[in-house]
Amino acid sequence: MLALDLDPQASLSAMFGYQPELDIGENETLYAALRYDSQRRALREVIRPSYISGLDVVPANLELHEFEHDTPRLLAQADRRKEALFFTRLSEALATVQADYDVVVIDCPPQLGFLTLAALCAATGVLITVHPQMLDIASMCQFLLMTSDLLSVVREAGGTLDYDFLRYLVTRYEPQDGPQTQVVGFLRSLFGDRVLTNPMVKSTAISDAGLTKQTLYEVGPQNFSRETYNRASEALDAVNGEVAQLMAAAWGRTSR
Ligand SMILES: Nc1ncnc2c1ncn2[C@@H]1O[C@H](COP(=O)(O)OP(=O)(O)OP(=O)(O)O)[C@@H](O)[C@H]1O
Ligand SMILES: [Mg+2]
Repeated sequence: MLALDLDPQASLSAMFGYQPELDIGENETLYAALRYDSQRRALREVIRPSYISGLDVVPANLELHEFEHDTPRLLAQADRRKEALFFTRLSEALATVQADYDVVVIDCPPQLGFLTLAALCAATGVLITVHPQMLDIASMCQFLLMTSDLLSVVREAGGTLDYDFLRYLVTRYEPQDGPQTQVVGFLRSLFGDRVLTNPMVKSTAISDAGLTKQTLYEVGPQNFSRETYNRASEALDAVNGEVAQLMAAAWGRTSR
């Protein structure tokens, strides 16, 4: 499996052992594989192992912002060549390593820029995380409206957007919170089956593990009360199982 960090804030990289400001030098992020100039590198050259076997990462740091600046400059040039199109660059880069991985996970930055658009064009499945609070929903709606506008422009320019699945995942859910439960109900009535059946509950086990840059699976049960740990790990397993099922269905391994 390959994890691509597209967020300049680089929390995914940090979780998997790479400090963005210490361990990642110049031209060592995904930017290297996307850039438009002669310093462009093969994606393979910026892939690093993680300490989890079978999981490689392409780390991020602030350098990724350059792509957001370079792209509009290039789009403004009248004589732009087809191979320079921003929305095909990531899929082209991924095509060079796809034989090495079963799954590629792309973590997008929390705003709609050229990096996110490139990811949406390269992806074969999309998971949209939703924090079930009214303000977060309002900003997600704005995000989706802008995205659909921009994606229709991309489509007209020849970009392909063909997903095996697109799902909303409710995260940091507090089931005992009435308003949140109402928001989740509202989402389900709006999006139906597109909302994953299992939400990820909010848990101190997850945030405490995060303090030491670990996942729940790494810290293990010994640091929490059994109830706290089980509640979090059951929710995590249920969500991951549902996502794994979507992938299996896309591969034609099971019925949906
Ligand atoms: N289920 C959870 N329970 C408790 N805390 C959580 C949970 N999920 C995430 N957090 C905490 O919330 C913070 C942000 O988490 P995360 O980076 O996953 O969010 P994000 O949606 O990717 O944020 P961004 O939109 O900025 O990229 C982290 O400190 C993390 O520990
Ligand atoms: Mg994030």
